[in-house]
Amino acid sequence: MTIKPFHLAWFLQGSSIQAWGAEWSGNISEEWMSADMFLDLARSLERAAFDYLLIEDSIYIGQNWKNSRDIFLRNGMSVPRQEPSVVASLMMAATSRVGIVPTLSTFAYHPYLTARIIGTLDQVSAGRAGWNMVTGSSDFSAQNFGLDALPEHDRRYEMAEEYIEIVTKLWNSWEPGAIVADRASGVLIDPAKVHTIDYEGRYYRSRGPLNSGPCPQGRPVIAQAGGSAKGRRIAAMYADTIVAHAKGIDAMKEYRDDIRRQLVSFGRDPESCKVLFLLSPVLGRTMAEAQARADQRAIDAAANIDVRLAQMGWSTNIDFSGFDLDAPVGTLATNGHQSSLEQFLRKAGKRTLREAIVSYSSSGGSVDLIGTPDAVAAQMGEVMQEVGGDGFLFSLPDVSRKSVVEVTDGLVPALQQRGLVRKTYQHRHLRDTLLEF
Ligand SMILES: Cc1cc2nc3c(=O)[nH]c(=O)nc-3n(C[C@H](O)[C@H](O)[C@H](O)COP(=O)(O)O)c2cc1C
Repeated sequence: MTIKPFHLAWFLQGSSIQAWGAEWSGNISEEWMSADMFLDLARSLERAAFDYLLIEDSIYIGQNWKNSRDIFLRNGMSVPRQEPSVVASLMMAATSRVGIVPTLSTFAYHPYLTARIIGTLDQVSAGRAGWNMVTGSSDFSAQNFGLDALPEHDRRYEMAEEYIEIVTKLWNSWEPGAIVADRASGVLIDPAKVHTIDYEGRYYRSRGPLNSGPCPQGRPVIAQAGGSAKGRRIAAMYADTIVAHAKGIDAMKEYRDDIRRQLVSFGRDPESCKVLFLLSPVLGRTMAEAQARADQRAIDAAANIDVRLAQMGWSTNIDFSGFDLDAPVGTLATNGHQSSLEQFLRKAGKRTLREAIVSYSSSGGSVDLIGTPDAVAAQMGEVMQEVGGDGFLFSLPDVSRKSVVEVTDGLVPALQQRGLVRKTYQHRHLRDTLLEF
């Protein structure tokens, strides 16, 4: 039976001091500005032949606990957070094969700027750039940009369709071969091959051409993470890779099958978009050590309920500080991350808020994998066999050089020995790396 290899990526929740307080995190509170820790991360992922590293972003300091920023600042929760496009360029300079995918939010950057920033990153990396397209989740972030609140959830996706149209049209505003660089005639660029886009939309307008020039990939890679109906639809229309948080094998299969159906309905090849599922495995030299670590995750969650609920509030725009911890969660709604809240509520069922948040925040992502690198590698192969593909997006609560190499130099070699992931890169451009299998 031929094993179809799968893809690996890493979800970095922002270049910051997020490992503050975690073991093996060195002097991160003194060294974080240089981003060295995250350059080492990128180098380790390249050594393990990962497809890409996705840099998460949200442009505000949390205030979803007692309507105060205190708990976020005291614990360094998603703050300080450096500008992802700057850190991405440093990572690109420190590597030569791994893809780097910064997040740029549609409410914060004008589409012309996004086209230019990602286009330039694609140039300086010789074709390894991607863009994680997000529409935002918090009114506090909108208020940093002069808005009272974020537009309504589904309208944000409607606006995002125009936004992506402009970005991709600007990337295509340079025809191949536009830069002739003819020393004899002294002509650098053929004017006939560079065009305006003259886009007039309901929400956005842009004339073009893109002044930063052509991109090595032609069209850099677009990543998306929407779980709602609107989110899935826009992903199936434009994304080359989707980062998903679906809980359990059935939900993972349902999600991927639905996306592939929609890809076909938009006239796209279902293989042209790779769905990678969030994974936070618990590794140990022995099964007992791994299980002890998994138990510790639940103990830590139970000991820090406030912090965990504030984190949940941060992505769902809900302030849980006034809720009764020992009462059932009940029904909730959000204009923020709808699928994240839905998943939390589905998993909570009739449990109390305390029980629900401990179980949700100590879980291992889409599937709970605990064990030695070899055991977890086998489980990852089985999960992918059942779901059909296309890979995993690692996300660890405590990013330290130690926790990273446990994955890149412990788990990945075990996966490579089983022929489940690539051992070396075959392509230079991120798009081709994603389409390799
Ligand atoms: C793996 C993953 C990564 C994400 N990264 C970001 C991010 O960097 N910034 C952000 O604002 N939202 C991020 N999101 C949130 C999504 O963009 C989206 O808003 C969320 O999944 C809810 O989508 P929905 O409202 O369509 O269900 C991420 C979601 C997932 C699952």
